[in-house]
Amino acid sequence: MSKKTYITTPLYYVNDAPHIGHSYTNVAADVLARYKRLSGEDVFFLTGTDEHGQKIERAAKENGETPQQLADRVVENFKGLWERLNISNDDFIRTTENRHKKAVTAFFLKLYEKGDIYRGKYEGWYCTPCETYCPEGQVDNQKCPSCGRQLERLEEEGYFFRMSAYAQDLLDYLDKNPKFIMPENRGQEIINIIKGGLKDLSISRSTFDWGIPVPVSDKGEIIYVWFDALINYITAAGYMEDEERFKSFWPAAVHIVGKDILKFHAIIWPTMLIAAGLELPKMVAVHGWWTVDGKKMSKSSGNAINPDDIIKQVGVDGYRYFLLRAVPFGQDGDFSQDGLIHRVNSDLANDLGNLVSRTIAMVNKYFDGNIPSAQKGDNPLKETALRIIPLVDNAMCRLEFHNALSNIWELIGECNKFVDKNAPWVLFKEGKIDELSFVLYNLLESIRIIAILVSPFIPKIAGTIWTHLGMDEPLASLRLNCLKWGRLQCGKKVIPFTEPIYARITGHS
Ligand code: MSP
Repeated sequence: MSKKTYITTPLYYVNDAPHIGHSYTNVAADVLARYKRLSGEDVFFLTGTDEHGQKIERAAKENGETPQQLADRVVENFKGLWERLNISNDDFIRTTENRHKKAVTAFFLKLYEKGDIYRGKYEGWYCTPCETYCPEGQVDNQKCPSCGRQLERLEEEGYFFRMSAYAQDLLDYLDKNPKFIMPENRGQEIINIIKGGLKDLSISRSTFDWGIPVPVSDKGEIIYVWFDALINYITAAGYMEDEERFKSFWPAAVHIVGKDILKFHAIIWPTMLIAAGLELPKMVAVHGWWTVDGKKMSKSSGNAINPDDIIKQVGVDGYRYFLLRAVPFGQDGDFSQDGLIHRVNSDLANDLGNLVSRTIAMVNKYFDGNIPSAQKGDNPLKETALRIIPLVDNAMCRLEFHNALSNIWELIGECNKFVDKNAPWVLFKEGKIDELSFVLYNLLESIRIIAILVSPFIPKIAGTIWTHLGMDEPLASLRLNCLKWGRLQCGKKVIPFTEPIYARITGHS
């Protein structure tokens, strides 16, 4: 039976239009999902929307809609963008769906019956944009320590989750599983917060009503939006609905999240799971934030970059490539137009595009399109290809997408140098057909491997290259063992290009 991998993205709030920050999480998750499928793993890839809470209720009121109408309208923006970006999610969950309400209700009752949810009183500073109470010690001038916006003083009587009771269990777990939070350096920050003391968590709200009802309340109280939303990860895996399926995908989960929501995923969520007697996910992978001209992107500052504007400019694959190549996963990155254009022109149009189109053109010209067979032994491209394949694998397992790409581009660079050094046009002129056949075979075989390796990142371009190599099997059905050297089908015909694989973006660097 193949290994199960469950990849999740955060659920996006439906009060906002998707911007490049949101799309970054989904592109990264998609690349990982595609790579894991290529590795032969049985992947379940989930994304969705977070539709409850005060923030959504307020946004709907401002628009003169009901929260459900707002959610039904905005969810389409997310679904549409994911489709355009070629995101290969297997499921899309909305927290207003019945399957989710059922799971949240069951989860709440389980903890309540255990005594891990109790009734109490709470007063504190609440940040509505972040939908969280902020610890008193971190509040300065009534501003949120995370997003800097105005806090509200709230006093609520309601239900509490006994989070403090699980602090030690979580610390022990983090100690035994240093790779639970990736990159590893983010783990320490979480350990420090837990060691600083965990309070119980207020998990019900009574001042508004857009949420899942507290099942044991007769006062119309609703469940706190984060307590509700985090449970989506088990809802979609079949919790309380399809135990067999649930067991097969849980706890094989990798949660991909931005750094701002790490605490929710690495403290609140694990303690909820421990309390419910469930295993913890395999990994919480944390990425940094995209800024524009050094500033946080937001609707209110009007500087949010619309993914569709960039897609129009550099194409879906250009966009996907740039996001993962430009900034190491885990670090913050500043978006720049020049950086974007320079990156895609140099890497996709020049390095990759030229290599593939000139190689195919030469096979067409010198061998009438027939893939030549290798007449001699090994060459340096084989050595580089076989060296980078495990490096790419290692980088992908560590979610170091930029390193995986730079390893692949090392092979592309070697191929380009190999063309220049061996000058196939001279070999042809001099009638050295065996040597020419050897050079072109090795280039085509390297390109075949490159197409497989880049396919999770730039699926459309990879598919085009694959078709032009005259390969029979569909690229999507391949597994990593196809990366063995020598699988090119000699005697088959390549298909010449009539247009560039990736057209250079003009008017910029
Ligand atoms: N609804 C919660 C998540 C609940 S998960 C059970 C939420 N939603 S969000 O829409 O505000 O953010 C979703 C994701 O987008 C987060 O991972 C966040 O880090 C990411 N990004 C939002 N803006 C971003 C940037 N400017 N840059 C990179 N990612 C950012 O939080």
